Amino acid sequence: MKSIVLAITGASAIQLGERSLQLLLKSNKKVDLILSRGAYEVAKSERNINIPIDPSSQSHYWRERLEVKSGELNCYRWNDHSASIASGSHKTKGMVIVPCSMGTLGRIASGFSLDLIERCADVHLKENRPLIISPRESPFNLIHIENISRIAKAGALIVPPIPAWYTNPKSIDDIIDFIVVRLFDSLGEHLDGIERWSGPKR
Ligand SMILES: Cc1cc2nc3c(=O)[nH]c(=O)nc-3n(C[C@H](O)[C@H](O)[C@H](O)COP(=O)(O)O)c2cc1C
Repeated sequence: MKSIVLAITGASAIQLGERSLQLLLKSNKKVDLILSRGAYEVAKSERNINIPIDPSSQSHYWRERLEVKSGELNCYRWNDHSASIASGSHKTKGMVIVPCSMGTLGRIASGFSLDLIERCADVHLKENRPLIISPRESPFNLIHIENISRIAKAGALIVPPIPAWYTNPKSIDDIIDFIVVRLFDSLGEHLDGIERWSGPKR
């Protein structure tokens, strides 16, 4: 089974990455997970959680925290440049970066592969494989906009974490689920267990 590379960076809304991971595993997918260095800091600051850096401890941590036994999970350190996923010969279904910080976005846009996330994004672009990026910042400055444009022109799909109001969300969890489902729709991956919006109630 080919994997989906899921990258979580140090932008606000780490919950989007967490929920993505939970739904992918619940849907029995194979996931290669990379957290950027910044993601650990934001997780501590925003969610008050200390995520273990060691890959096998982290894998165990997510399984307990997200209460999911199904699927396959491989965790990687952000600086593991010798990981198999850093090479184009490792085939994947695609890569999703959620949330994507402006730092990671800028380095991808300039081809500056400093960490494993940036290298994997570079590989997905060069191999013409799906790359979905969900950039989180507000407001965007012109450099952010130009970086987004550059990455989109290189073949990535930009799916910002923007809620839809027409679904009449009742909670933050509803908003998160809507955004996560849209992200994986863009990759052509169905997530189980989520009720989908099917038009206005009559
Ligand atoms: C609580 C918190 C929230 C942050 N939110 C954002 C954000 O929404 N977007 C962003 O681009 N950077 C945000 N940052 C700054 C990034 O974490 C910082 O630029 C970091 O170096 C990004 O590293 P990375 O791209 O390797 O993840 C935030 C930082 C903290 C501590």
